[in-house]
Amino acid sequence: MTDVTMDKIVSLCRRRGFVFPSSEIYGGLGSTYDYGHYGVLMKNHIRSLWFRSMIQERDDMVALDSAVILNPAVWEASGHVAGFTDPLVDCRTCKLRFRADRLEDSQCGRRPSMRPGEFRECDLTEARQFNLMFQTQVGALEDASSVAFLRPETAQGIFINFKNVAQLARRKPPFGIAQIGKSFRNEITPGNFLFRVREFEQMEMEYFVPPDEAERWYEYWIEQRLQWYLDLGLRRSQLRVREHSAEERSHYSSGTSDIEYLYPIGWQELEGVANRGDYDLTQHTQHSGTKLEWVGEGGERYTPYVIEPAVSIERIFVAMLVDGYDEEVVAERDRTVLRLHPEIAPVKAAILPLIPRNADMVTRARSLHEELRRRWLVEYDDGGQIGRRYRRQDEIGTPWAFTIDDQTLEDETVTVRDRDSLAQERLPLSSVAAWLDDALQRPWESPKR
Ligand code: GAP
Repeated sequence: MTDVTMDKIVSLCRRRGFVFPSSEIYGGLGSTYDYGHYGVLMKNHIRSLWFRSMIQERDDMVALDSAVILNPAVWEASGHVAGFTDPLVDCRTCKLRFRADRLEDSQCGRRPSMRPGEFRECDLTEARQFNLMFQTQVGALEDASSVAFLRPETAQGIFINFKNVAQLARRKPPFGIAQIGKSFRNEITPGNFLFRVREFEQMEMEYFVPPDEAERWYEYWIEQRLQWYLDLGLRRSQLRVREHSAEERSHYSSGTSDIEYLYPIGWQELEGVANRGDYDLTQHTQHSGTKLEWVGEGGERYTPYVIEPAVSIERIFVAMLVDGYDEEVVAERDRTVLRLHPEIAPVKAAILPLIPRNADMVTRARSLHEELRRRWLVEYDDGGQIGRRYRRQDEIGTPWAFTIDDQTLEDETVTVRDRDSLAQERLPLSSVAAWLDDALQRPWESPKR
């Protein structure tokens, strides 16, 4: 079995243009990243698959795109100004800062010979609460009245729009409001590549339900979200659901379960599903003076409870890469392959003329590329030996390659090579689009054990 380390993932991402360290020519800026071509394509697929399952395929959901900078009163009401903090300690010996509750994971006072949990005498300051929200200034005035925050979650944008989206449209619970957008957190110890970053793209959905149905919908959404990952090919053995203890839960939550993935750094939260009760709508009702509740035709009224599945594209991105990364020896040559679900793979198919100097092959390959690109992200590649081109496509996870060769010129057929099995079959050039359409709809299971 391939030993998948975060270093291998980082190196492949860089080598193949998925992700680069940001501001690199200026020495970088810790734990910020830029996405290259294949990273952008893969992120787009993750985003639209989430959107499809949350919005397109359901009758009980609407979309929202709220602002990043909100009235600071929102964050007072939500509890973020007072409570969105991590305990911070400074080490006078190491001259670094750490999360006091994660010292055993940090390098503070560590020497290679030490056992886990053992520390060198470190000179730590008392822990103090550090607010994770990024502060900024709105307008030209630089005083307390202009302080604002970059949102640390997209959820509050949904709650403050409850009146616009739900009340005015007379939407009856259960129904959901979903949004995708950037969130920002001034994490004390970001790291592990994209796993914990300061700028990330959240996909959150707030599902408003009658209070006495909250527990049922909480269970329902845990199930739904877990199944979504399984349908996208993540291996069952690498996923688990872990319920938070009462001490671990956020201030707003009356029940939270994490869908965890076995990352190279151990079991970690991929997505959280929380029962937020009526905390947020009640808080915003009290602080804004606007009543946020559901009112039925017959005068029935109540503040709905909220079930929230929340995840970042970054955590899914890393989980997919780790789950897909594989190394093997084929015909005495090393092969690195990303065994991604075809829907997640950045490029769906490669079109390759076997001999790039052969004008007839190039013409046919180009025309097949033109036909397929109208419907899918496909790539034409005539750079170098065919073996090298296959390996390049394997490394970016392209599920199929169509090769135009001598026989194509005789009988108008092409070979299709399967990324996972390496099996090759011939099919008529004219049926490639229908074949690909069909292949993309077939269920896919990871061949990795
Ligand atoms: N609205 C609820 C909320 O924001 P959270 O558990 O703090 O809850 C939700 O965040 C999800 O956002 C997490 O499950 C994770 O997928 C993602 N996330 C949180 N902080 C992150 C970070 N620093 N970098 C990448 N993803 C992050």
